[in-house]
Amino acid sequence: MEADVIVIGAGSGGYAAALSLSKHGKKVILIESEKAGGVCLNSGCIPSKAFLYMASQYYNKENEKIGITCSSKIDLVKFQEWKYGIIQKTIDNILAGCKKAGVEYISGRASLMPGKRGKLDTGIEFSAENIILATGSVPRSIPGFTFDHSRILSNEDILAMTEVPLSICIIGGGAIGVEMATFLAKLGSKVTVVEALAKILPNTDDDVSRAVVRSLKELGISIHVNSMATCGETGPGGLQVHINTCPEDSLAFDKILIAVGRKANIEGLGLKDAGIEIDEAGFIRVNEKMGTSQPGIFAIGDVIGGAQLAHKATQDGLMVADTIMGIESDYSMLTPYVVYSDPEVASVGMTETEAKGIPGTIVKRYYFAALGKALAMNDTRGFVKIVAAENGQILGVHIVGHESSNLIGEALLAIEKKMTVKDLAKLMHPHPTLCEALGECARAFKD
Ligand code: NAI
Repeated sequence: MEADVIVIGAGSGGYAAALSLSKHGKKVILIESEKAGGVCLNSGCIPSKAFLYMASQYYNKENEKIGITCSSKIDLVKFQEWKYGIIQKTIDNILAGCKKAGVEYISGRASLMPGKRGKLDTGIEFSAENIILATGSVPRSIPGFTFDHSRILSNEDILAMTEVPLSICIIGGGAIGVEMATFLAKLGSKVTVVEALAKILPNTDDDVSRAVVRSLKELGISIHVNSMATCGETGPGGLQVHINTCPEDSLAFDKILIAVGRKANIEGLGLKDAGIEIDEAGFIRVNEKMGTSQPGIFAIGDVIGGAQLAHKATQDGLMVADTIMGIESDYSMLTPYVVYSDPEVASVGMTETEAKGIPGTIVKRYYFAALGKALAMNDTRGFVKIVAAENGQILGVHIVGHESSNLIGEALLAIEKKMTVKDLAKLMHPHPTLCEALGECARAFKD
């Protein structure tokens, strides 16, 4: 088989690259060993958002304050049917998109050989002018905890569950830990989170992290930061876990979820044969244009490490496609960050702590509690925080609050287009909306 470009991995990054290249007249083959859509669609973003939605519907079912009382019960078998239905619809759309764009989609496991060549598990060999590696990432564990997929679980096991665990110890207070803690607690599980570093969501703004901790605690979740867990024996009450900062010798849990990050999905990819280097953390080493150590072979998305986010993988895919087509591309785009806690967290640009090193930076907050729409939606939690330079240029926006995932787009545009707080303050925001909080926050800066 021969093509202009062979893309290995049909997740967010690989699919975007394949489509863009094909649209510009390249002959593209897209190879996928599992299901189209990758981790994001099949065992990541989309199923976890479906879980969060379902859990919220269940958790918010009764709200006497606004005049609703009713009863409901959870049927996770039914939920899984619905969830797999959404996934299948999207897989069908991806496959139809490939067909329409003229991308040849092949189901099979690819491995590389020296030169810009490789073979499928069926033995069929392929070669191309350019190869893009977009094989994503897989869950990683920690010493003492081996995934058995029945008691010691990965996020993928949780997303496939048909019963709510009575209790669960989540190791890792990053994005997966926080999102899964949120929906599991809403579904009635007794949740404990153990985080090695000093705060939950270690890479977020300090105030945002504190707000998330408050909301997790309101859901009844126990949180242990600066803590390490050790797995013990299985006793009558479940798996024994020792948490070094807990006074008890050990606590018993029905299940354990390991959410301590993900490793590159490169097993069997033939990187060594192809002479492609990996870095100390086991991710494919790339240059600033995502070229690997072999000319003509690129790597994008989770498999190169850094921010393991679907939208970042898509952006990588589009940029690499441009590079292959000889189009100048901007590799310095900001990466927005969203965590679906309740309320949600959304962030782009510099945090307050990062800005402290820059003289003259100013930080203002606006609380949703002052906003009519938030009051009318009975959710006044959270705030918008804008970090601006001395000349008013917006450097960072951090939001914790209802629907902040949908509010961050405006902030992203403002920063990318180098807007000042004055520019943002002048925009006429529709009323009543939550995005008014951005305008109000911008107006809090002095002229
Ligand atoms: P993560 O890197 O976000 O968080 C892992 C957490 O585990 C860190 O806070 C780390 O300090 C902690 N940790 C590491 N070793 C530990 C240990 N031995 N004991 C206790 N804590 C330990 O990784 P996570 O949550 O597994 O997510 C994987 C990737 O997927 C991340 O890159 C994440 O950004 C991405 N993701 C993004 C989402 C979103 O954008 N909404 C949702 C879910 C995942």
